[in-house]
Amino acid sequence: MSSHHTYEHKTYPVKAEIAQNAHINNEQYLALYQQSIEHPETFWAEQAETILDWQKPWEKVMDYDYTQGKISWFEGGKLNVSVNCLDRHLATRGEQMALLWEGDDPAQDKKMTYRELYQEVCQFANVLKAQGVKKGDRVCIYLPMIIEAAAIILACTRIGAVHSIVFGGFSAEALKDRINDSDCKLVVCADEGYRGGKIIPIKATVDKAIASCPCVQSVIVIKNTANPVAWNAERDVWYQQAMAEAAITCEPEWMDAEEPLFILYTSGSTGKPKGLLHTTGGYLLYAAMTHKYIFDYQDGEIYWCTADIGWITGHTYMIYGPLCNGATTLLFEGVPTYPDASRFWQVVDKHKVNIMYTAPTALRALMAQGDQYLENTDRSSLRVLGSVGEPINPEAWEWYYQQVGKENCPIVDTWWQTETGGILITPLPGATELKPSSATRPFFGVKPAILSNEGQVIDDGSEGVLVLERPWPGQARSIYGDHQRFIDTYFKSYPGYYFTGDGARCDERGYYWITGRVDDVINVSGHRMGTAEVESALDEHPLIAESAVVGYPHDIKGQGIYAFVTLHIGIEGNDALRKELVDLVRADIGPIASPDLIQWAQQLPKTRSGKIMRRILRKVAANEIDSLGDTSTLADPEVVEDIIKNRLNK
Ligand code: WT7
Repeated sequence: MSSHHTYEHKTYPVKAEIAQNAHINNEQYLALYQQSIEHPETFWAEQAETILDWQKPWEKVMDYDYTQGKISWFEGGKLNVSVNCLDRHLATRGEQMALLWEGDDPAQDKKMTYRELYQEVCQFANVLKAQGVKKGDRVCIYLPMIIEAAAIILACTRIGAVHSIVFGGFSAEALKDRINDSDCKLVVCADEGYRGGKIIPIKATVDKAIASCPCVQSVIVIKNTANPVAWNAERDVWYQQAMAEAAITCEPEWMDAEEPLFILYTSGSTGKPKGLLHTTGGYLLYAAMTHKYIFDYQDGEIYWCTADIGWITGHTYMIYGPLCNGATTLLFEGVPTYPDASRFWQVVDKHKVNIMYTAPTALRALMAQGDQYLENTDRSSLRVLGSVGEPINPEAWEWYYQQVGKENCPIVDTWWQTETGGILITPLPGATELKPSSATRPFFGVKPAILSNEGQVIDDGSEGVLVLERPWPGQARSIYGDHQRFIDTYFKSYPGYYFTGDGARCDERGYYWITGRVDDVINVSGHRMGTAEVESALDEHPLIAESAVVGYPHDIKGQGIYAFVTLHIGIEGNDALRKELVDLVRADIGPIASPDLIQWAQQLPKTRSGKIMRRILRKVAANEIDSLGDTSTLADPEVVEDIIKNRLNK
């Protein structure tokens, strides 16, 4: 999206009554931030003592060596995540709702108190044990957004099993790769799911995937739609049946702070998806603390994060952060536009949601449908609004602020990544004057910097790459099974820093403006996609010689997927072949990776040494053909002329 310099001077000051009632006002932010940077160990030790319950205190607050990709927090300390999210709340809030669940069908909803959730977690932990799952074993979770998801996740943590949640929209092929990469012993799934009025196959996809997963010993299946599914009696177990036989208490496994909590796959600029490994103590502390301060969560409030459990936002800000803080967290099974574009606001009114956290792509889609969908809803329960996943354009920001929040709710535009575990750059509702489209200032303990490509610190407000100077507790510790890749991806290009892969600039008052990825990763509707993954799916087609995939600006999705495809000599491209290619990508990755535009190219623009000039393709895809930049290194300038002439995004 283009930069909007006109908005840069527009500010929204913190209203006095919000600052007064919030956990943190601006003076407190400045003082605490300074303390967190000057005395990090004291600062984090204090937070860890107040926010978490430990079975055994730690020996060392923090240790790190970025050259080895080594990071540790609270080494020697012992705790259990489910105890922090459940047991310790029972005395004070056992009968309070932990979960609210809103079905895809507006007539369906469910709730669960902390005590009920605790019992379900203990029971399912016993089911896992009965299936032979032990501390350190990996469990794959492939589920639609059903209420049982929370108990299944926490049951893993109760016994120290490492979960790897795979988004329910990924294909059998993608699921298979992820299960094998982390060597999962067991898969938890449902028969089918509901989404946007349609039925989504789940068990059938699992069956297809694990036909090539020798590591999987059993599959636990939640009966959800109750439609018949194929069954392998030696391997498959019904959740409801196993739960009915399970004991209702389960002693927690005490985990070292640095023992693994979960693996979550995300795309990079090269190669197959990376399984980011998060550990126990630091992650949970960072999840809970950021949830409390960034959303200004107050006791008794209803909090709604619209993410799916398959993404990091669903882990940190739908499950772990809120439950650790004793919050009531809402899980939504459906989509923003079903039955119609007023659904989000209907849900807000029905459940009296106080804090809502969603993605710019959803806001843009709803905004495009028109304000009439807001009109019959009241939304007066809303107090704080959040945005995540991609840069929020000023138009969507203003709509969120003015139309949705009726100018009463601060917007927290939260910048972070799967790798960071939690939010790093963000406003705080009671502290930060807002600027539409700026993620504003760093959270406590976070020290960003902007560097030139050569690694020089940029401090004049111009754009560079965003890096972070030192670890924070929520940071990923490794890539599962490939620690060298962890070092190479994040700590090699700018020694001494964690490299984010994002571009950004920092203005004169210290506000950060994220400008998007600087690598070959694109962000489609808030979903991170490696262009190389899409290319390798396309290249599987026998008629394809070569392909290059880039992102281009898309009104709703943020970025769309533009594929330039060269066919073998003598083959003509047509719409039937386009459809075959789209189907191939859907089968290899999933519908979220479908190319929006496929252009047939006689050749791809290359340097004399044979490297594809993606910079030029990005310009063509964006229809910015007047600013192609330096083309003098092209091997054959005519190739570009042909590509420009046939471009699809005019
Ligand atoms: C990438 C991380 C963080 C949870 C969801 C996505 C982009 C994320 C923002 C924001 C601008 C953002 C970045 C980042 N991104 N939030 N508020 N403003 N860009 O997690 O899939 O790991 O993707 O999303 O490019 O690197 P993810």
